[in-house]
Amino acid sequence: MKTDDKRGTPLPGAAPGAAPGADPDTPLLSVRGLRVRYRNAGRPFEAVAGLDLTVHAGETLGLVGESGCGKSTVARAVARIEDDVSGAIVFDGQDVTRARGRALKPYRRRVGMVFQDPIASLNPRRTVRDIIATPLTLAGKGDPAEVRARVGELAELVGLHPSMLERRPHEMSGGQCQRVSIARALACLPELLLCDEVVSALDVSIQAQVLNLLMDIRERQRLAMLFISHDLAVVRQLSDRVAVMYLGMLCEDAPVDELFGRPAHPYTRALLASVPGGAGPGAEPEPGSAGAGSGPAGVASADVAHRLLSGDLPSPLDPPSGCRFRTRCPLAQARCAAEVPQPVEVRPGHRVACHFPLVAA
Ligand SMILES: Nc1ncnc2c1ncn2[C@@H]1O[C@H](COP(=O)(O)OP(=O)(O)O)[C@@H](O)[C@H]1O
Ligand code: SF4
Ligand SMILES: [Mg+2]
Repeated sequence: MKTDDKRGTPLPGAAPGAAPGADPDTPLLSVRGLRVRYRNAGRPFEAVAGLDLTVHAGETLGLVGESGCGKSTVARAVARIEDDVSGAIVFDGQDVTRARGRALKPYRRRVGMVFQDPIASLNPRRTVRDIIATPLTLAGKGDPAEVRARVGELAELVGLHPSMLERRPHEMSGGQCQRVSIARALACLPELLLCDEVVSALDVSIQAQVLNLLMDIRERQRLAMLFISHDLAVVRQLSDRVAVMYLGMLCEDAPVDELFGRPAHPYTRALLASVPGGAGPGAEPEPGSAGAGSGPAGVASADVAHRLLSGDLPSPLDPPSGCRFRTRCPLAQARCAAEVPQPVEVRPGHRVACHFPLVAA
């Protein structure tokens, strides 16, 4: 594993990138057979039930699926803030699934996370300056003057006026708080940013600004991202590849144009069909716009699918046998109840977990 020291503390605009000579085919993040268990009224269940994902250096993987399918759980497991996890989380060739204490520190510096609710994710009693400085201090980065200078650089990078550094979260807007969260996540120059519904709680007018900021920083720092959103238009705009989840499992993943242009899983088709005039096959996205990823009543698209598909999302406490989507799938056959479909590559880089994928000739 590269040490954090080698990365130093370059200016915010500097591009750390991958290690010189790093194999471009080796993923930065490789998640294998991930399972995450919770308890509901004392009864254990799997919110993520065997998921494989990869993210390469500098790449953005979009992760979509209906509310409750396990997207946030995946992000939290990768961030190593979930306890009951099995499978393997491999970062830059190192298995970090069971790393603890000091062994986890380098990983924590190299992976940042931005959460959905910007105000709740910031300590209300601390100033913005302290909040952004905390990861630097924890990482033992430099003397107070260096930390102060670095905090100033980060504030500038995310577009926060220096006067805001002395404020507390409740004295700022949601968009400003999200800029603080992003600055904090970037403080130690991560190579991977986990973004969980980072604009969902913001006003529509602010969403595009925050998305543009993220894209700008991503380019300048060659950041990889796991970008979780229920807004398919936003995912289409930001992602290089997209993975679709259903009830804790992967349905499909593919390069972004392939997934939106030739979806092969019945669930992905339903998701895309749920976007009126928006992110469906062949449609051009309207990046960051209010309407593109939204349903008729302004409800974001992955959750509109919930209404278009027959039946409710089954409970992860009692998932259907075989294919978890079979209780809502218009193409289900007997085999679907008996056998769990494994992801199979139907075209280069395009994997589908379905016994009867909708692959055009
Ligand atoms: N801390 C928790 N304890 C018990 N169940 C949880 C917890 N967090 C999430 N869940 C459940 O796990 C499932 C996946 O949740 P989540 O990852 O938040 O989904 P998503 O982010 O896709 O909306 C849901 O059924 C949710 O109710
Ligand atoms: S495996 Fe069967 S039930 Fe599942 S998505 Fe494919 S056709 Fe539908
Ligand atoms: Mg979530």
